[in-house]
Amino acid sequence: MIKIAPSILSADFAALAADIDRVRDEADLLHVDVMDGHFVPNLTIGPPVVEALRAHTDLFLDCHLMVDNPEVLLDDFAAAGANRCIVHIELGDPRARFAAMRDLDLGVGLVLNPPTPVDAVLPYLDQIDMLLVMSVHPGFGGQKFIDSALEKVAEIRAALDARTLAAELEVDGGIKPENAARVVAAGATVLVAGSAIFEDPDGPVAALRKFKEAIRR
Ligand code: DX5
Ligand code: ZN
Repeated sequence: MIKIAPSILSADFAALAADIDRVRDEADLLHVDVMDGHFVPNLTIGPPVVEALRAHTDLFLDCHLMVDNPEVLLDDFAAAGANRCIVHIELGDPRARFAAMRDLDLGVGLVLNPPTPVDAVLPYLDQIDMLLVMSVHPGFGGQKFIDSALEKVAEIRAALDARTLAAELEVDGGIKPENAARVVAAGATVLVAGSAIFEDPDGPVAALRKFKEAIRR
């Protein structure tokens, strides 16, 4: 079963509850893009918004932390009701962050940016619940899919399978119904999509159905 994670970065921030209600029945989880204006040149949302989302929905809240110091925020995300936090390997050795997330009962996600080689994350595959491959440079929605991400997904899929590890393999950035099947064929189990869902002229429900149609095997 391939899961689809709408990224609320492309939702209407003045009407988040309404936009979440629109995707509720077709979405498998929600992707929450947290940006601090330092790790990436954009500023978005933090724990107070996650707390408000938690009060509104039972959907799994997957928080992608594009921040310089995730360790100072983990307590607040856990208290706000996040289900999982995703930290960037570019910040260095993630093991202390993983331990902090486990202590807080948060799922553990690890993410790598387009320029970062797969080798950087291989040592940690047995310590995580989810590996996220960025297929755009993080910071903004609506960018073009970087094709070389597919090779990274395939390489990580092979590494997971060789060690019979069950971590989810997620891909984020530039995914549309048109390229979703290729991402799944490379070995992804979760597709994140923002603009392709919330900016589809036919609306987010129709967009999610287009994704499901595209990846039906
Ligand atoms: C980019 C974010 C993505 C973004 C994806 O920095 O991490 O989650 O919302 O948006 P689309 O699907 O429009 O590329
Ligand atoms: Zn993201």
